[in-house]
Amino acid sequence: MKKVLIISSSLRHNSNSELIADEFAKGAVQAGHEVEKVSLKGKNIAFCKGCLSCIKTGSCFIKDDAIEITEKMKNAEVIAFATPVYYYSMSGQLKTLLDRANSLYGSDYKFKDIYLLATAAENERSAAEGTIKGIQGWVDCFERAELKGIVFGGGIDDAGAAVNHQDVMKAAFELGKNI
Ligand SMILES: Cc1cc2nc3c(=O)[nH]c(=O)nc-3n(C[C@H](O)[C@H](O)[C@H](O)COP(=O)(O)O)c2cc1C
Repeated sequence: MKKVLIISSSLRHNSNSELIADEFAKGAVQAGHEVEKVSLKGKNIAFCKGCLSCIKTGSCFIKDDAIEITEKMKNAEVIAFATPVYYYSMSGQLKTLLDRANSLYGSDYKFKDIYLLATAAENERSAAEGTIKGIQGWVDCFERAELKGIVFGGGIDDAGAAVNHQDVMKAAFELGKNI
């Protein structure tokens, strides 16, 4: 049994990337893993100020919701990031969280397996290249971690439209089941 954290970064009601994340979660639960989903909706996460005091103290000095989420990231064995593609990158709110989780760098983090669940209006997988590169770049900063799997849902735009893409939903379920 693995401790799995899913971070859903879209702030949209009936979010496509979150619908896919929920399928990933269902698969992981069915396989017997302990799954927690954290949505960034309603969370207060300020920008990183770049002071690097987190490296000395082990925690960010800005006491907002990023502190608790960073702690959850540190203790999870598996982390799945769900994001819409925004201007060929990950969502700004996810990038802001990763910056604010900088105390993880050089810490005794537990995560090993990282997954990316992304949706985009465009069909081509190339639309997610920047998003994948960004997450891969973050993963590369953690030597025990690896980007183990990606679900890309292309051609998914209107809120809730992911339900019409059963192939993508199934791929997410199977990935969650096989972590
Ligand atoms: C600010 C913004 C930027 C976007 N940029 C892109 C993009 O670069 N490429 C793309 O294919 N879709 C783009 N989209 C569409 C979303 O990726 C797509 O609707 C996705 O399914 C939204 O996921 P969500 O419902 O989880 O938020 C953008 C949407 C928004 C709101």
